[in-house]
Amino acid sequence: MSYRKDSDSVELGECTRNPGYKDADGDGPAARDNISVSDSEEKRDSIGVKRLSDARDEYTQIKPYAGMPKEVLVLYSSKARYRVPREILFWLTVCCTLALVAVTIAVIALSPKCLSWWQASPVYQIYPRSFKDSDGDGVGDLKGIKEKLDHFEYLNIKSIWISPFYRSPMKDFGYDVEDFRDIDPLFGTMKDFEELLATMHSKGLRLIMDFIPNHTSDRHRWFNLSRTRDPHYEDYYVWTDCKPDGPKPNNWVSIFGNSSWTYDEVRGQCYLHQFLKEQPDLNFRNPDVINEMIDIIHFWLDKGVDGFRMDAVKHMLEAPHMRDEPQVDPNKPPELVTTEWDLHSDYTTSQVGLHDILREFRAQMDIYSQEPGRYRFMVIESYDYEEVYKTMMYYGTKLEKEGDFPFNFYLLDLPQNTSGAWAKHLVHLWMGNMPKGKWPNWVVGNHDRTRISSSAGQLYVRAINMLLLTLPGTATTYYGEEIGMENINVTARHFCSLVVSNTLVTRSPLQWNANMNAGFNDKTNLTWLPLHPDYETVNVEAQMKDDGSVLAQYRFLNTLRQSELPLNRGWFCYVHTDANVFSYIRELDGLKRAFLIVVNFGKESVVTDLSSVRELPDELKVLMSTNKVNDGKVFPKSRIQTEVGEGLVIQYSTNTRFNPNHPEECYISEKACYLETIGILYKCQ
Ligand code: GLC
Ligand code: MG
Repeated sequence: MSYRKDSDSVELGECTRNPGYKDADGDGPAARDNISVSDSEEKRDSIGVKRLSDARDEYTQIKPYAGMPKEVLVLYSSKARYRVPREILFWLTVCCTLALVAVTIAVIALSPKCLSWWQASPVYQIYPRSFKDSDGDGVGDLKGIKEKLDHFEYLNIKSIWISPFYRSPMKDFGYDVEDFRDIDPLFGTMKDFEELLATMHSKGLRLIMDFIPNHTSDRHRWFNLSRTRDPHYEDYYVWTDCKPDGPKPNNWVSIFGNSSWTYDEVRGQCYLHQFLKEQPDLNFRNPDVINEMIDIIHFWLDKGVDGFRMDAVKHMLEAPHMRDEPQVDPNKPPELVTTEWDLHSDYTTSQVGLHDILREFRAQMDIYSQEPGRYRFMVIESYDYEEVYKTMMYYGTKLEKEGDFPFNFYLLDLPQNTSGAWAKHLVHLWMGNMPKGKWPNWVVGNHDRTRISSSAGQLYVRAINMLLLTLPGTATTYYGEEIGMENINVTARHFCSLVVSNTLVTRSPLQWNANMNAGFNDKTNLTWLPLHPDYETVNVEAQMKDDGSVLAQYRFLNTLRQSELPLNRGWFCYVHTDANVFSYIRELDGLKRAFLIVVNFGKESVVTDLSSVRELPDELKVLMSTNKVNDGKVFPKSRIQTEVGEGLVIQYSTNTRFNPNHPEECYISEKACYLETIGILYKCQ
């Protein structure tokens, strides 16, 4: 490469030393060259000397310009005035990058975990027989569910639990499974299932399946192999010796009543069934049974389901000694001991080893949860009544995960004594016993219990939904509750078996509109259970048009809950309770916006005086009332008025949080604070 300066024809060849180079101190290569130059100077003629010094002068005067050759550029770029800023810039960049990395790590470490999908949305329970019938046989099906997914978009619900649709003889409406890897033709085909799941996922909806480990149908292949003593399957169920007409092996009773032992003629022994006699209990003391169930879990997780509702788990193990259970009333004649309420179920439920099995199921699910964004959710069904601590064990421990939560059924008892004090008592049963940091949940209806709107009364439906959606944790909504559906009267012709029939009142077809069959089946005049006669007014379509409807209020509250930090992850603090009113605050440290909820579960309209609550502003404005005309009303905090069954969500602004002054009245799952100035949520204290 060469450089020609037009005027003086100074050339710089490949190996030319650059005489114009000077660094900041005036030495550097050029200065060092001077030594050698001066050494040889004497040997040169005077013209040579002159040329060299001229060139040096000229190079120091040249201004850098675009397209300069490398050598010349190096001359300039090495000068202190270029080099020093460059180095400063370099180190500044390094420091900034490190600082950025440190800040990022700190922010991640200090941020509370994002809510997972099963925390962010309510769980909606679809009873598939009753949701939507696509083929006109009078029974709801998977295609029907797919047709109606818009309902969830409208409601802003993302988590859908579908009660069993496995192949089944339907003695217990699908909770008697004949094949855990197949769909019952009544509900459709495996292809229908896969299409439903794919469509749900494309809409951002998650599918939770029922998983029924305790028992199979007596038509299951395993049971047939077991009763014929196939060596591999011989111990798949709980068998014991007994005589065909002799006494039962012990006094254990089925949940559906009478002895839980039935003599099997094929095998010549009795088998255990904690539910119907067509639902033989599996033997979870046999490791092969555990492995079979794990394979089934894998089967559905591989298909892509997002979680399981684990059915009736407390019954999975029985005491191997099979001794009689103690009677609740020791004086009751043994032949009158026929229901679960007659016995302390010490040997048939919650046996040692149960949690190990469930934790193993969980560990299998966690393998699938590692896939980013695909957390697999596990909810446990176990109702332990007053033994709350037993239920709480399904949360697992700090070291070992189990269920994400066990269903909280306590609010199902609200109608027993609908009142403010009772509501608080039931809420506190959970909040006061839940292990620290765990995520609460609330259920106000399911397929096993009468509808709460019927037992508590229509008057309280909206208030109950408000409670459900403003308490901390995940709400579960049984289909139809979003429009306030009520129990039906089931007549004898619908009875399949006396025991199961008691719960049919709660399973009538969902009321979509005022048309034929309430839009549940628009092809024929069949419905597997009668519709509730109120369907002409109580239906989804009509309520969508009415912004004061149960449905509209459900939607509003659910959307509010998901968009407001205090409601979806903030503190929950009891503020006031009396015979009528249950009142609580939802707030988040660092956030001025907070919510006061006042619900009247009582028998009379009342004025509630909260003037002693210093943390509340003097004037309170109603954001939403279950009685629409009261929306926007302003109450002095000493006179908050509520009618019977009315609930108020009051939004207010404050600088004084309630929780620091009343720690014993307040709960939070994971402490989060909000830095309003930069809009960041972080862990505090
Ligand atoms: C659960 C179900 C119930 C079923 C039982 C047996 O309790 O909710 O409907 O009958 O398990 O599987
Ligand atoms: Mg069992």
